[in-house]
Amino acid sequence: MKFSSVALASAAMGLAQATPLVERAQITDADVLNYALTLEHLEAAFYQEGLKNYTQADFQKAGMQDPFYANLKETASDEQQHVQFLTKALKAAGAKPVEACTYVFPSTDVKSFLALGSILEGVGVSAYLGAAASIMDKTYLTAAGSILTVEARHSAYLRAALGEAPAPQPFDNPLDFDEVYTLASLFIASCPESNGKLPVKAFPALTMPSMAPVMTGAKVDLMVAGDMPKDTSDIYAAFITVTGPVWAPLESTGAGKFSVTVPEGIAGQSYVVLTKGNKQATDDNIVAGPAIVEVGEPNGPMGMGSKCSGSSKPSMSGWPSMTMSMPSASKTGMPSMSSGSMTSASAAASSSPVFNGASGKSVSVFASVFGAVAAVAAFLQ
Ligand SMILES: *[C@@H]1O[C@H](CO)[C@@H](O)[C@H](O)[C@H]1NC(C)=O
Repeated sequence: MKFSSVALASAAMGLAQATPLVERAQITDADVLNYALTLEHLEAAFYQEGLKNYTQADFQKAGMQDPFYANLKETASDEQQHVQFLTKALKAAGAKPVEACTYVFPSTDVKSFLALGSILEGVGVSAYLGAAASIMDKTYLTAAGSILTVEARHSAYLRAALGEAPAPQPFDNPLDFDEVYTLASLFIASCPESNGKLPVKAFPALTMPSMAPVMTGAKVDLMVAGDMPKDTSDIYAAFITVTGPVWAPLESTGAGKFSVTVPEGIAGQSYVVLTKGNKQATDDNIVAGPAIVEVGEPNGPMGMGSKCSGSSKPSMSGWPSMTMSMPSASKTGMPSMSSGSMTSASAAASSSPVFNGASGKSVSVFASVFGAVAAVAAFLQ
């Protein structure tokens, strides 16, 4: 009885998209937590840099009235504490926590900073969600969940500040390790060599000329950074959702360029991958991506200070200046996302030091160490 309702629920949720078991078996809890720590380092560094770059007055000028700035500082502090927590938990469990890397962010003003912040928070939510099923130890699952919910509130707050729906759909989209790694490596210039290597890889990046929000039915231009087979007749596009891939009409427009039509049922921060064949969208057949597509109409500002700014809609001018195709790459020193140079970027990514740490050692840390559990409990109190 119980079993069949669970089975039904799973079937309803289309769990066919779950990561293959083989791959899960290679990822230890230490790996998962170091992977989470890698993302938290990135987020913490991002806010730290942003708060250094932009003053409270800058945020006010951009329409973000108090208490926006105070809430942003709280967000930055949350990320720092996530870093400290995961670092402490890994150490307590006898695993080596990864250290911060060197990052390159494409944001250059308040609006693009907040737009990128919103995207990073969304990726954080998708990363924790996608990793949840790989966490073996329940205590760590709860701890990761307690971080996920906070990332989700950060995401909702920033989305609202940008005039986007805070919770645009009933289910968030889970991303797997390799998908998140593909996105995170866009912002990581280099990592300390002492960080070991985690069992994850990056797919060739899938870039877009603009990250401005689009509507259902819109055509989005995509470009594969890296080699694509000449024959693209077997290449498909899928949006990743918790109920499985939603296939989307794809047109090849030549030389690694594509145009995908945003299908019905996709809303908010969405992820599209190119796949070989259209039976599944898993690590085994993803050929590029994910690319991040924001689907939905800007609502106008909700809540927080921006409603006091006097403008009915926040300017979306922040969007074009911060694109995932990184036209600003040459300015920022960011690895260029043009197809030529991306070959080396993805080659570097696959042997990249990004997700480093306790890998290879198959540390079966978390089940065994009482100290780590105590550390979690102490932290949660
Ligand atoms: C901080 O400012 C520098 C210099 O303009 C810029 O390159 C960097 O991307 C900015 N960082 C953030 C997080 O906005």
